[in-house]
Amino acid sequence: MTKNALVIGANGGIGNEVLRQLVQDEHYETVFSVARSALVGNHANNSKVQHKSMDTADEGEVKSYVDELRSAGKKLDLVICTTGILHQKGEGETPLKPEKRLEDMNSAQLAEYFRINSILPAIWLQHLVKVVAKEKAAIVFLSARVGSITDNSLGGWYGYRASKAALNMLLKTASIEYKRRAANTSLMCYHPGTVDTGLSKPFQANVKPEKLFTPEFTVSQLLSITAELDAEESPFYLDWQGHTIPW
Ligand SMILES: NC(=O)c1ccc[n+]([C@@H]2O[C@H](COP(=O)([O-])OP(=O)(O)OC[C@H]3O[C@@H](n4cnc5c(N)ncnc54)[C@H](OP(=O)(O)O)[C@@H]3O)[C@@H](O)[C@H]2O)c1
Repeated sequence: MTKNALVIGANGGIGNEVLRQLVQDEHYETVFSVARSALVGNHANNSKVQHKSMDTADEGEVKSYVDELRSAGKKLDLVICTTGILHQKGEGETPLKPEKRLEDMNSAQLAEYFRINSILPAIWLQHLVKVVAKEKAAIVFLSARVGSITDNSLGGWYGYRASKAALNMLLKTASIEYKRRAANTSLMCYHPGTVDTGLSKPFQANVKPEKLFTPEFTVSQLLSITAELDAEESPFYLDWQGHTIPW
């Protein structure tokens, strides 16, 4: 029981469940978590959890956080980044609604998709290379099948698709450098299926009940798939069944 994990975006529907399952996993001694606010859920007070409220999209805050881990001699065996946006209309937020047609695109919306779905992961990839465990580690980003350029036959959702495709490209590019600097690290983009969380709520009407997964299901798939990754074959773009998605 000596492993350390980090969950980025620990208050999301999927992120909070990742945290819950890792806390229950006896292989993990410490589960670090970061989110924009105090941690929610019963496991928030578990002694294995070390939570920090911070802006997970802020370059300076991410650097300081990872530098603190490094100064404390911490090494991460597993990192799961569960942040991502599809729609929003909250106070102080850039309004987001997935585009149905060319006329729906606007630069503020596109910039916000890229800021959270692509640039936030890039910043973490940049810094995490300093703190991954040398012997074996995995860094997972929640992506989506709609980020596959090859698989795009439906169109629409310009900003979300493009920002997830950019995430995939950033991870694939980083994987080449990780092979030199942290060779035993597996990098993965994960498609969780359609999961019953706030993110998918407005789009669940046409999803068959058996195709709408619980966070419990997709996270247990994610953790068992991650445990089997071989860094020699990194990077990965896998779905909830462990099947490869074309980039
Ligand atoms: N649900 C699905 O059906 C589905 C399908 C395909 C892919 N995904 C992907 O899975 C991931 C998790 O989604 P979810 O279903 O758990 O959604 P969710 O419940 O809406 O959670 C949203 C996550 O994004 C973070 N976030 C939102 N706005 C942010 C901002 N301005 N700055 C920093 N972080 C922000 C939240 O961070 P805090 O913890 O700090 O609040 C939280 O971790 C996303 O990347 C999503 O694209 C989901």
